[in-house]
Amino acid sequence: MKRISRRTAITGGFGAAALTLAACGNRTVPAEAGTFPPAPTLTPKAGQGLVTQTLTAAPTTVDLGGRTVSTWAYGESLPGPLIRATAGDLLRITLENRLPEASTIHWHGIRLHNAADGVPGMTQDPVEPDTSFTYEFVVPDPGTYFFHSHVGLQLDRGLYAPLIIDDPDEPGGYDAEWIVTLDDWIDGTGQTPDDVLAGLTGAGASDGGGMDHGDMPMGEGSSDGMDHGEMPMGDEPWGDAGDVAYPHFLINGRIPEAPEIFEAKPGQRVRLRLINASADTIFALALGDHDLSVTHSDGFSVEPVTAKALYLGMGERYDVAVTVKDGMFPLVARPVGKTSGGRGLAVLRTGAGEVPAADVQVRELDGEVLIGSTLEPAEAARLEDRAVDTELELAFQGSMEPYQWAINGAPFGQNTPLSIREGQRVRIIATNQTMMSHPLHVHGHTFALPSGLRKDTVMMAPMESFALDFDADNPGRWAAHCHNAYHQEVGMMTGIDYAS
Ligand code: C2O
Ligand code: CU
Repeated sequence: MKRISRRTAITGGFGAAALTLAACGNRTVPAEAGTFPPAPTLTPKAGQGLVTQTLTAAPTTVDLGGRTVSTWAYGESLPGPLIRATAGDLLRITLENRLPEASTIHWHGIRLHNAADGVPGMTQDPVEPDTSFTYEFVVPDPGTYFFHSHVGLQLDRGLYAPLIIDDPDEPGGYDAEWIVTLDDWIDGTGQTPDDVLAGLTGAGASDGGGMDHGDMPMGEGSSDGMDHGEMPMGDEPWGDAGDVAYPHFLINGRIPEAPEIFEAKPGQRVRLRLINASADTIFALALGDHDLSVTHSDGFSVEPVTAKALYLGMGERYDVAVTVKDGMFPLVARPVGKTSGGRGLAVLRTGAGEVPAADVQVRELDGEVLIGSTLEPAEAARLEDRAVDTELELAFQGSMEPYQWAINGAPFGQNTPLSIREGQRVRIIATNQTMMSHPLHVHGHTFALPSGLRKDTVMMAPMESFALDFDADNPGRWAAHCHNAYHQEVGMMTGIDYAS
């Protein structure tokens, strides 16, 4: 097997000035607050559905399945409470912040108005501790989404939950639905995500945000939480896939020793809504003894493809349909390029059988794994054909040592936002100039790959590039970033600004 050391897996591309500046710390929260107007209040139109919910973000203790951890979560649950609405509905969601830090919520993949997008310093002021903020927005497109904190590394605690937008026109076509949220977990196992980042950047111990983290034994992952190992290349397309050695991988908040068991009846057609909410882990996912019919990518329909297994990058969602057999079947999420922490497991039960062991192997993961960006769009999901008005470049750059990640020559805060105008057909030429893979996420828009495939988050393998087209129909200041939370936090982010 060919091996590549992350120590040598570095390409440059951004200047020494930016490299020096990159060590200045967190840039996603601005120094001064009070600069954004209050969020607009929306009233439902006649016949429009209204979904109202309050989410309390607070320190809590969660049981991962016999393993209890202190963390931060919404509604004291992991994942947080599901939000479900129908396309066209108005959502009115209040964030009550009981955390010791400021927070916000980002509605990942939703084409909403800018003021509700949840990016501190870009679309709103951070929501300070013991205050609240109400997000009001219309959800135009059906599909599988999620929401998460957009402050610091809070996503890598427990601050995420699924968001499902139903299609009033969908013919149905399935008998049961299983929402499957994948995560990589370290918080409360001896260190916080902030401690992990301090290790990666060499900044020394951090105070961990004031949390009590002295009550858990160390040593289930590597002691400093960094993934130091040389990693196998094998046949996987992702090169150096992640930075953090997680002690646990979760499906729906459970470790594989105590997996969630989903019940269905043999012969039923089950729709799995797959969400990768992890911070630093690409998963290869398969259901033992079953084929997966992939029907949607990031909420939008695709020409169905049958696969044994598929990759999910951080921030990506896929819907797959499965006609279920009779028995007990493991749903396995194998973390790509991670050498510790096992794997994610959940169980489909349609009949008799033993609950699979935590380390169960499924042969579906031995062969080819579908790469989502190779899917083709369904006709209805295509962008209308038109000429491109402006072409912009977005280059992912950086290195592990020193731990610096950037876009277009500098980290966020020092790079220049991309500038577009309302009404344009925009083409972003995205290039990955590094030897790691990075999921590129664009806020407020769902772009089209050259195939026409619609996505809001696309996995970019080392040195890979894509032309991403979208219509500039949603004015504001939007974020575009790597959805590796650690890369994003050190600056692998830029803005897409509508010029007025
Ligand atoms: Cu899901 Cu800007 O992120
Ligand atoms: Cu990245």
